[in-house]
Amino acid sequence: VREPDLTGRHVVVSAGGTREPLDPVRFLGNRSSGKQGYALARTAAARGARVTLVAANAALPDPAGVDVVPVGTAVQLREAVLKAAADADAVVMAAAVADFRPANYATGKIKKKDGQDPDPVVLLRNPDILAEISTERARSGQVVVGFAAETDDVLANGRAKLRRKGCDLLVVNEVGERKTFGSEENEAVVLGADGSETPVPYGPKEALAEIVWDLVTRRLE
Ligand code: PMT
Repeated sequence: VREPDLTGRHVVVSAGGTREPLDPVRFLGNRSSGKQGYALARTAAARGARVTLVAANAALPDPAGVDVVPVGTAVQLREAVLKAAADADAVVMAAAVADFRPANYATGKIKKKDGQDPDPVVLLRNPDILAEISTERARSGQVVVGFAAETDDVLANGRAKLRRKGCDLLVVNEVGERKTFGSEENEAVVLGADGSETPVPYGPKEALAEIVWDLVTRRLE
């Protein structure tokens, strides 16, 4: 257990995976369970922070003492995060946000038609929330942290993503069997805009969360 070094601070964490609806029963989604974001929220609260957890489709119990804002889509997540970020000392984007959404929503369930090929799904680009928060900085000195789940060229992709998004820290985790999406454990390298690299060995998602807050508090001082 760490010192209550986030006392008096407001932090915003996003968790889970957005769902982009096609019709009343179907969506485009991803495999995020929300566990990494919830671990970040729990550990920040234990360290004394006021925590807003913007939770996208996570089937997890609300952490004690945390303000949970449930959302569905990327557009809803953006709205909730920007609102909470207005007076936040730090924003940590652990959610897996869909880069695209279906251009059209069918108000009735899409039916298959005999002998006909299905209609193609046309996609529109979603807003890049992390890039927007990093550029705008609602509050001076606000620390912005992103996550990146990569399958190949993990560190090279992570470094490029850190520059592109403009955040202070990027937690790069490799997609794998017993880590990242859905599991209790994770393993990562936290890249800093200052060129720092902090490897985090395989272990519980709480352990990675504590290291993220260690790096955030150092930047808040
Ligand atoms: O939820 P769990 O099952 O515990 O799994 C945790 C996790 C794998 C989801 C988490 O550790 C993680 O890596 N989250 C980011 C997933 C990802 O692949 O993100 P990305 O590379 O698509 O996006 C990079 C960053 O930009 C993320 O901080 C994301 O929140 C943000 N983003 C992405 C797209 C978008 N339109 N807006 C964003 O803000």
